[in-house]
Amino acid sequence: MRVAIIGTGYVGLTTGVCLAFLGHSVSCLDTDASKIEALKAGKIPIYEPNLAELLAEAAPNMRFTSSYGEAIPDAEVVFIAVGTPPTPSGAPNLEYLSQAARSIGQCVNRDFTVVVNKSTVPIGSGNWVGSLLRDSYNNRPDRNGAEFAVASNPEFLREGTALHDSLYPDRIVIGADAQRALEVLYSLYRPILDQTFTAPTYLPRPDSVGAVPMLSTDLASAELIKYAANAFLALKISFINEIGLLAERVGANISEVARGIGLDSRIGPRFLSAGIGWGGSCFGKDTAALIATAGEYGLQMPIVESAKRINARQRDRVVEKLLQELKILKGRTIGLLGLAFKPNTDDLREAPAIEIAQKLIDRGVRVKVHDPIAVDRFLKEHGDMQVQICDNAADVSEDCDALVLVTEWNEYRDLDWESIGKRMRSPFILDGRHALDRDKLTRAGLRYATLS
Ligand code: UGA
Repeated sequence: MRVAIIGTGYVGLTTGVCLAFLGHSVSCLDTDASKIEALKAGKIPIYEPNLAELLAEAAPNMRFTSSYGEAIPDAEVVFIAVGTPPTPSGAPNLEYLSQAARSIGQCVNRDFTVVVNKSTVPIGSGNWVGSLLRDSYNNRPDRNGAEFAVASNPEFLREGTALHDSLYPDRIVIGADAQRALEVLYSLYRPILDQTFTAPTYLPRPDSVGAVPMLSTDLASAELIKYAANAFLALKISFINEIGLLAERVGANISEVARGIGLDSRIGPRFLSAGIGWGGSCFGKDTAALIATAGEYGLQMPIVESAKRINARQRDRVVEKLLQELKILKGRTIGLLGLAFKPNTDDLREAPAIEIAQKLIDRGVRVKVHDPIAVDRFLKEHGDMQVQICDNAADVSEDCDALVLVTEWNEYRDLDWESIGKRMRSPFILDGRHALDRDKLTRAGLRYATLS
């Protein structure tokens, strides 16, 4: 099928590459011409494992353009995957979404086009996009009876495993009021639903993956599913962090507690890793948006609000723990291992490392940082931050009064801890992710602590 994707961020690019890999003909559109030039030259603007390989394989089915006039008229399906960044009130900024909807309306030309919202948008946005499209189309002197329908197809991929999550999803959710739109999207996703494609060697199909369920709903339900899923995952993390605080006081081991409750299949083991808490572009923004939407209906969301408060508290606990250990922070040197909001990405949006570094700088600490992937992005986005960037973890440790493991990159697990401890002024490590081996580090001569 012929597909257009508006927006070449994480979601748009991943979706485009996967659909092209499945054999569809895909035009990726971004109004940022420099991004399109880079993509045409085979350069990928984000770090995502295997994206370069899959893009190279899918390239014959892909076009990159900044022109709506090129991408839209032939497309049977148009995905909107533009950014919806948070505004200070918590409600997302829908400027890009409305521009995309109007521009699509200017160019649709087929007898039937399905316009799909893949961006995470407030409940009700499907209807709104529909009205923007209609207005824009109806204002055209050259309109020719083209028809279109709006659908919502929320995205559940995680950064760092985006391709795996797209090719082998737990479910596909489609919200649409028009049956015809559902049928078009069913055909588009059929290779994934039936898992009939040949898996790339570097992204093998897990044995557990069978047919993928597709859930078709009305527009509002699909939109709410996305927010409810992210809020639930976020509160699972905050729940384990809340229990972690008590575990610490009573002398219980939070990792064992998490394992013990996660083995109950009604609870499940995932998203119960205690530590610094969640970051990234989604959980913070989506929980804020959910609260903002509820507010518009005169409702409160006390559970989601608490989850946010607990998450913020985890950052403060890093500073408290360091204070407890070092007594005075002013004039100390503290090293942060990891900048990205989680491993296998260079994304720094709402990254705990940035918040923690700032809190430490505000208290007069000299901060040293390392990240295997995210340093370039850090320099671009936070170049004015007063931190010392180091090439490797060993250099970070030099003269440090404490190290904090912020992002659990794999390479941090097997460092030469003995020599790191020797290079530190005081060999104290705060493992913010329960990622390191306490016994190994203690044997190597470090004082090891966790947040709970
Ligand atoms: C999240 C959701 O997991 C995706 O399903 C969703 O599609 C995406 O948001 C989105 O809305 O676009 P993502 O933000 O990429 O994906 O990353 P996650 O793997 O969910 O991690 C989020 C944060 O939670 C990270 O900072 C991670 O370190 C933290 N986390 C995760 C924990 O602190 N503990 C855990 O047990 C799991």
